[in-house]
Amino acid sequence: MKSVNRTSARFRHAVTIILFASASIWVSSTGRTQEPLEGPEQPIPYSHKLHAGKMNLECKKCHPNPDPGEKMTIPATAVCMECHAVIKTDSPAIQKLASFAESNRDIRWVRIYEIPSFVRFSHRAHLEAESTCADCHGPVKERVRLHREADISMKGCMDCHMAKSASTDCTFCHENMN
Ligand code: HEC
Ligand code: HEC
Ligand code: HEC
Ligand code: HEC
Ligand code: HEC
Repeated sequence: MKSVNRTSARFRHAVTIILFASASIWVSSTGRTQEPLEGPEQPIPYSHKLHAGKMNLECKKCHPNPDPGEKMTIPATAVCMECHAVIKTDSPAIQKLASFAESNRDIRWVRIYEIPSFVRFSHRAHLEAESTCADCHGPVKERVRLHREADISMKGCMDCHMAKSASTDCTFCHENMN
C-alpha cells in the first residue's frame, strides 16, 4: 500500500512539473505570437509598427511611387537621416545606419514582395482602381518585421481580378503570351 502511495505521489509530482513547464512554454509562445517576427532578419532592425503605426508616418513619405508609377521604391538612407541625424544616435543600429549614410552606400534590404519580370504590374494603376496597400501587403502598420503574408502569386492576382471584374486574359499580365 505504502509503496503504491509513494509511486502515485511521485507521479503527481511529475505531472505538476510537466503542467508547469508546458504552461510556461505556452505563455512564452503566446507572448511571441503578439509580435510575430516571421520575416527575414534585415541589415537594420527597422520597424513599420513603430514608424508607420505608432508614429503614423505616411507610407508615401518613404514609398513615393515616382513616374511612370510602377514601383513604390525603397527609401534611401537620407530619408532616415532626416530624423536619425539627431534621434537615438546612441543606438548601435542607428550608428550602423549613419555609417551607411556617410559612405553613401545603399542598405541591402532583403526583398519581401517581388514578382518575375515577365509579369506586367503597376502600383499606380491599382491605387487608382482603389486597391489598398493592405489588400496586397497585409497589416504592415502592425508589423515589427515584414514577411510575405498576402498572396501576390498568379492565383492571388486572379482571385481579385475575378472578384472585381478586371480582366483575366493571359495577355493582360503577360505581354508575350497568347
Ligand atoms: C520622422 C522621423 C523618423 C524617420 C524618417 C525615421 N525614423 Fe527611425 N525612429 C524615429 C523615432 C522617433 C524612433 C524612436 C526612438 C526612441 O526609441 O526613442 C525611431 C527608432 C528607430 C530604430 C530603433 C533604434 C533603437 O535602437 O531603438 C531604428 C533601427 C530606426 N528607427 C531605423 C530607421 C530607418 C532605417 C529609417 C529610414 C527607413 C528611419 N528609422 C526613419 C524617427 C524616425
Ligand atoms: C520611415 C520610412 C517608411 C515608412 C513610413 C513606411 N515604410 Fe515600408 N519600408 C521601409 C523600409 C526601410 C523597407 C525595407 C525594409 C523592410 O522590408 O522592412 C520597407 C519595406 C516595405 C515593404 C516590402 C518591400 C519589399 O518587397 O521588400 C512593403 C510592402 C512596405 N514597406 C509597405 C509600407 C506601407 C504599406 C507603409 C505605410 C503603412 C509603409 N511601408 C511605410 C520604410 C518605410
Ligand atoms: C494590387 C496589389 C498591390 C497593391 C494595392 C500594393 N502593392 Fe506594393 N507590391 C505589389 C507587388 C505585386 C509587388 C512586387 C512588384 C515587383 O516585383 O515588381 C509590390 C512591391 C512593393 C514594394 C517593393 C518596391 C517596389 O517598388 O517594387 C513596396 C515598397 C510596396 N510594394 C509598397 C506598397 C505600398 C506602400 C502600397 C500602398 C500605397 C502598395 N504597395 C500597394 C502589389 C501591390
Ligand atoms: C486587390 C485586388 C487586385 C489584386 C490583388 C490585383 N489586381 Fe490587378 N487590377 C485590379 C483592378 C480593380 C484593376 C483595374 C481594372 C480596370 O481598370 O478595368 C486591375 C488592373 C490590372 C492591370 C491593368 C492596369 C494597367 O494598365 O497596368 C494589370 C496588368 C494588373 N491588374 C495586373 C495584376 C497583377 C500581375 C497582380 C498580382 C501580382 C494583380 N493585378 C493583383 C485589382 C487587383
Ligand atoms: C492578373 C494577372 C495574371 C494573369 C491574368 C495571368 N497571370 Fe500568369 N502569372 C502572374 C504572376 C503574378 C505570375 C508570377 C507568379 C510568381 O512567380 O510568384 C505568373 C506566372 C505565370 C507563369 C510562370 C510559371 C509559374 O507558375 O510561376 C506562367 C506559365 C503563366 N503565368 C501563365 C499564364 C497563363 C497561361 C495565363 C492565362 C490563362 C496567365 N498566366 C494569366 C499573373 C497573371
